[in-house]
Amino acid sequence: MSRIDQLIGAMTLSEKLGQLTMTAAPYAVTGPFVAGDLSEGIKSGTIGNLLNLYGPEIVARTQRLAVEESRLGIPLLIGLDVIHGHRTLFPVPLAEAAMFDAALWTETAHAAAREAAADGVTMTFAPMCDVCRDPRWGRIVEGPGEDPFVGAAIAAAKVAGFQGKNLDGIAACAKHFAAYGAVMAGREYASTDISARTLHEVHLASFAAAVAAGVAAIMPAFTELDGVPMTANRELLQGYLRGQLGFEGVIISDYNAIAELMRHGVAADLAEAAALALNAGVDIDMMAEAYGDGLPVALERRLVTMDQIDAAVRRVLRLKERLGLFDDPYRSAGAESAADLAKRRVLARDAGAKSMVLLKNEKDVLPLTKPRRIALIGPLADAAQEMRGPWAAAAPLTGCATVLEGLRAALPDAEIEYALGVAIDGGAAEEAGGIAIAAALCDGADVIILCVGEAANMSGEAASRAHPHLPGQQQRLCDAIFEKAGGRPVITILFSGRPLIVPALVEKSAALLAAWFPGSEAGNAIVDLITGKVSPSGCTPVSWPRATGQIPVFFGERNGGRPINPADHYTSKYLDSENSPLFVFGDGLGYGRFAFSNLKLSATTLARSGTLAASVDVANEGGHTAEETVFLFCHDRLASVTRPLLELKGFAKITLAAGARGTVTLALKGTDLCFPGADLAPLFEPGEVEIFLGPAADRTRLVGATIRLVAD
Ligand code: BGC
Repeated sequence: MSRIDQLIGAMTLSEKLGQLTMTAAPYAVTGPFVAGDLSEGIKSGTIGNLLNLYGPEIVARTQRLAVEESRLGIPLLIGLDVIHGHRTLFPVPLAEAAMFDAALWTETAHAAAREAAADGVTMTFAPMCDVCRDPRWGRIVEGPGEDPFVGAAIAAAKVAGFQGKNLDGIAACAKHFAAYGAVMAGREYASTDISARTLHEVHLASFAAAVAAGVAAIMPAFTELDGVPMTANRELLQGYLRGQLGFEGVIISDYNAIAELMRHGVAADLAEAAALALNAGVDIDMMAEAYGDGLPVALERRLVTMDQIDAAVRRVLRLKERLGLFDDPYRSAGAESAADLAKRRVLARDAGAKSMVLLKNEKDVLPLTKPRRIALIGPLADAAQEMRGPWAAAAPLTGCATVLEGLRAALPDAEIEYALGVAIDGGAAEEAGGIAIAAALCDGADVIILCVGEAANMSGEAASRAHPHLPGQQQRLCDAIFEKAGGRPVITILFSGRPLIVPALVEKSAALLAAWFPGSEAGNAIVDLITGKVSPSGCTPVSWPRATGQIPVFFGERNGGRPINPADHYTSKYLDSENSPLFVFGDGLGYGRFAFSNLKLSATTLARSGTLAASVDVANEGGHTAEETVFLFCHDRLASVTRPLLELKGFAKITLAAGARGTVTLALKGTDLCFPGADLAPLFEPGEVEIFLGPAADRTRLVGATIRLVAD
């Protein structure tokens, strides 16, 4: 008999339910309830898993309670939101998406997993796979941005990075399944009501990719989808995840989500809530005490069976076994050295620089050439804590390099004068003087660097914003600085967890760098870019709207029957705004200047089982070595269901010295061109498809050709 069978045979109901329970320790606060002393629960076996605990000593002490003092000695799973690093912080996930670099996505996850494992963590609640087209939603910062192909690529890379080979890293948990990114009006925890087509075309691909990559766990979203809360969504959890995708791992509820089924209005009491969740396929109850308290009653009422409970326990124990916890419950706790941490900082600086997106660089004002006197202005210029971004539990509050520190380190001979100007979201009184003091610094400066944007806690969970603009009085500060600057260039560094709606800032800045929240090496990475040590290479993974009223604006729109035509009033447009976003998916400048030509296809026909190679010549006509991202899009103009105007099917990078040229080749498989047919099953439909290669989701900058899809 296997170890797991023996254990299940020996377990009482309460011990079984303990394995299906995950309780928060008071070391990081990620939800509304904080538990007290958990020792008795662990020793009695009623708590089988913990979240929000880290640190080698405390984890070892706690694990010892389970292993040495509980009747069956089953080790605990220890979960934590290791979202974009652990002790060392890498850029927030939306920023990492802008890197378009699968190897680097994996590398930062691997580094985070090693640090977290050294702190006793065995599971991260990441990657967050929610595609989102609404910058009002604060959690857009945690995900891949607007595109499902990018979502899938990141999900696969991150699962590989966190878990390593055969789960020798930490267990990953893909979340929040599914369509959480489509919450109504971008308002956190609101309902989701989307078509089945949108669900299949946009929101499921990243989870399918996580499953294909062997993800250990999946977390359903807090939200309901078309009237069915995801925590109780049998059709999607059992039918799609377990049935269609063959997912055999653990499904963990979100924080208190099972009890919230009562508030959703689908369960009358905790027993019904627990039964709905278990029947839908949820194995572990995070923080609702619904399984411990509700399942015994649900069993009595015959709402669930012991076999179902055993199956869930088996999945949890199998995960613990695969993680090696039965043989070494303390795993690599304590294994990190100071040298390891130093290496991570180098990686954080590299990733930081690669994640930032240069949105404007008028007259090549960047890179800076030996500035003598710099006026550094704004509430984010020396804000170490904000550089962390949301979800940074284990990183020290003061551990991130600021722009001020970065400038001082890189330009020891320059005179750097700094003023806060206004607080990030402060009241009016303090600012009057602050703005004048900051504006006065402009006199005599040869360059002005403005550091503005959001505080870290303005994005992330429970951080929706109806007005995703510059918060507080910062626009006033910017206006005063632009006025005072006269002809001197203003370089704006914009910090945010989302695309902000800042058309005036874009218009008046000579250069604008979207820095997002870059993590531990923020200031150094920014200075690497603005001094030209590194050429910017990030591309925005999400469209930047011109106005809130355009949301959602994204490149994968459909043509419709009356596409915009300025000459015709009765076409799809606004009376008071352009249709296009201010910056489109893929936008991002560097210090090179790239021209695309000579699109070549290895074949003009493609069968479902076939592959073709699409290549394009890229020339760097600028004066600096730089990296360019090449995207491959397609458009199926005539199909049995309408298709988006552009669909992303691939991307690749090329680095070219000034004046150099090269060729980028991307593979396109026939199966990549399947789409959900009228019945939502994958359909490969013979006919013509346009293929485009180029730097961004903008037809005017792409080179294209047509291929014909043919039957096998
Ligand atoms: C969040 C999850 C997170 C969990 C545990 C919840 O509030 O929605 O993303 O993993 O807390 O911290």
